[in-house]
Amino acid sequence: DWTMRAFREEEIAKIRAQVGKGRVICGLSGGVDSAVAAVLIHEAIGDQLTCVFVDHGLMRLNEAEQVVDLFRHHYNIPLVHVDASKQFLGELAGVTDPEAKRKTIGRLFIEVFEQEAKKIGGADFLAQGTLYPDVIESVSFTGGPSVTIKSHHNVGGLPERMNMKLVEPLRELFKDEVRKLGRELGLPEIFVGRHPFPGPGLAIRCPGEITKDKLDILRKADAVYIDQIRKHGLYDEIWQAFAVLLPVKTVGVMGDGRTYDYVVGLRAVTSTDGMTADFYQFDMKFLGETATRIINEVKGVNRVVYDVTSKPPGTIEWE
Ligand code: XMP
Repeated sequence: DWTMRAFREEEIAKIRAQVGKGRVICGLSGGVDSAVAAVLIHEAIGDQLTCVFVDHGLMRLNEAEQVVDLFRHHYNIPLVHVDASKQFLGELAGVTDPEAKRKTIGRLFIEVFEQEAKKIGGADFLAQGTLYPDVIESVSFTGGPSVTIKSHHNVGGLPERMNMKLVEPLRELFKDEVRKLGRELGLPEIFVGRHPFPGPGLAIRCPGEITKDKLDILRKADAVYIDQIRKHGLYDEIWQAFAVLLPVKTVGVMGDGRTYDYVVGLRAVTSTDGMTADFYQFDMKFLGETATRIINEVKGVNRVVYDVTSKPPGTIEWE
């Protein structure tokens, strides 16, 4: 892609000019945006960049391992992997309000990130994979009054406190452009084509109180759902698909017995930028098959529902 090749060269020059001989630290979230930003910056300044991956224990199945593998082994980018899941889950215990979850996660993320930055001797710049829609949505909701719908913890806060300047090479891009850039940079397709994943992770896909047990159930259900979508060749048609674990138990019947287990909600939407979205029209056979697989393969779930709400009036995430 000619445009992205030019963009890559331009941004590399800009990053070099901005950073000089300074040191840069970049937080990886496991998502496409921070990964593309990190690889681009590494290409510009090499080992002046250190990546920090704060694992909050709210990642999807096997996701943390994949991030470490890609950066440390595939790209040879210096990476600090911090397993802070105990700390995050500890502080999230009893927290049920969506914004309180985001704030708790945001605060802890900053604390852990700061400690790690100190350990490696600090840095002059903080790199972030902020996209154009992040810049807009964290300020106001387009077309509406200037209110914050959801506070995205990956924008703001950190640089002022740590007295670092920001490096945000993706600030003018939309998601589809970031994917093109990622491909241009040679990131594996399975990574580049990935659906967006929110900074607070599974915390906002587990309405009500978050526990390790619930997260484990959610991870398994989500993995089965995504496997179904991939097997049916639908993954790339969908902007974002994920499972939600509802804080509700319902009665079911299995064999001769009564069950009393959780409900899993399935979400899938099409969108171009995440700012508006339509629910995805699966055929019923697919949904039925998926429900059966989830209930058979995931202990603790006996009912599956599909979310048919578009955005607006819904949001993509349930919290
Ligand atoms: P909503 O749910 O607001 O989501 O329709 C729009 C897009 O943003 C993602 N999202 C977040 N990303 N931190 C993030 O980094 C957050 O707190 C957050 N909340 C929502 C969501 O996954 C979707 O892609």
